[in-house]
Amino acid sequence: MGNPKLYIETYGCQMNTNDSEVVASVLCNSGFEVTETIEEASLIILNTCAVRDHAENKIFQRLIVIKKLKTTNHDLLVGVIGCMAERLKEQLFERNVKVDIVCGPDSYRKIPELVAIAGKNNQAINVHLSDSETYSDISPMHLGHNRLSAFISIMRGCDNFCTYCIVPYTRGRERSRDAQSIIEEAKNLEKNGFKEVTLLGQNVNSYNHEDFTFPKLMEAVAQAVPSMRVRFTTSHPKDLSNDLLVVMAANNNICKNIHLPVQSGSTNVLELMNRKYTREWYLDRIAAIKQIVPDVTLSTDILSGFCNETEEDHQDTLSLMKTVGFDTAFMFKYSVRPGTLAEKRFEDNIPEDIKLRRLNEIINLQNELSSLSNEADIDKTFEVLVEGISKKSKEEYYGRTSQNKVVVFPKGDAKIGDFVNVKIKGFTSATLMGENI
Ligand code: 5AD
Ligand code: SF4
Repeated sequence: MGNPKLYIETYGCQMNTNDSEVVASVLCNSGFEVTETIEEASLIILNTCAVRDHAENKIFQRLIVIKKLKTTNHDLLVGVIGCMAERLKEQLFERNVKVDIVCGPDSYRKIPELVAIAGKNNQAINVHLSDSETYSDISPMHLGHNRLSAFISIMRGCDNFCTYCIVPYTRGRERSRDAQSIIEEAKNLEKNGFKEVTLLGQNVNSYNHEDFTFPKLMEAVAQAVPSMRVRFTTSHPKDLSNDLLVVMAANNNICKNIHLPVQSGSTNVLELMNRKYTREWYLDRIAAIKQIVPDVTLSTDILSGFCNETEEDHQDTLSLMKTVGFDTAFMFKYSVRPGTLAEKRFEDNIPEDIKLRRLNEIINLQNELSSLSNEADIDKTFEVLVEGISKKSKEEYYGRTSQNKVVVFPKGDAKIGDFVNVKIKGFTSATLMGENI
């Protein structure tokens, strides 16, 4: 008999992807082996997201499929971990989906104990939130086939309490991880041949540990791993400092892309959202970015149909998008999350059809902006990290620019993991097409 097998499926953000690597590492240290074949697993773990109702519905549907595996594999254990586990707690046992283990984002060290309890036919749960857990001593196990790009969580939790958002409740209070452990982890990645690292946090700009601020940490990491690209996400507009922009401009290996969620272009709506900035503040930050880091691309998150959003507010969002000229955006319809401040304070009073119409207008505009942004790259040359073989043609590679745009180009002599110079010759709204020079 070999080791028991763990199958892990991840939903939600990059933070969750990294957490799954921590969980895999903890469980492999306690005797499990990771499998990519769900049928051979004795433990199935779903690492879940609770940010929208739709995300949770998807998990319940998946659990219904997984429940059927239990009819042939009687010893199979099923665990739900992550944000939805933290939000629903014991309620997950009450739904007819046969969950054995429920574990919140700060209890991953306890997973082997929970598995042992569940193995004796008990329901096992730990949803305790911590003020200090950062998993800084656990080396994440790199899952899947990507040996080029890795994530490092530099902080956990969120103290912002945007009124629509469940994250402060599912991930608890904000805490920063020790800077030295972050730098060491980055150096190890470089030693192991990784070419890119992304520093992760809900609000990286408020990173603060002993005498390290976020700009200082970025500089230290970029200089510790000169052969690697360094990215970061997510920034909150209220805390994005010029110091960070200066560090970005001064270090070639810090990628020239900023994800700066705006959520809405209307100061009234931003106030209802408790975002703590105005439209003007956001536009001022954008102006500073464009001035200090001129070759930067900008991406954002936009929420349509938040409580009390008027047609004028919606027009403000569209006009802000045009003023900034976002290169890409993630766009969502507002979904009420039980327990949030918005759910308690306001009425979800924008009818579904209006939310959807506004969202579609936002998406259509963004497609135009993304095309314009890509068109502007024609005849420019970019350094591209070769990431893999294009899905459409075996003769072509895909990779990304420092600006985080995907480029497809003929293979030439390049190998996966190389940095190559590519001249842009064509584009769609989502991809650049180039030639290797
Ligand atoms: N409904 C819809 N989208 C949401 N987001 C956060 N909370 C909600 C919600 N209740 C979006 C925000 C955030 C991104 C990660 O998800 O745009 O930036
Ligand atoms: Fe990530 Fe937020 Fe979803 Fe949690 S709720 S997985 S923090 S996106």
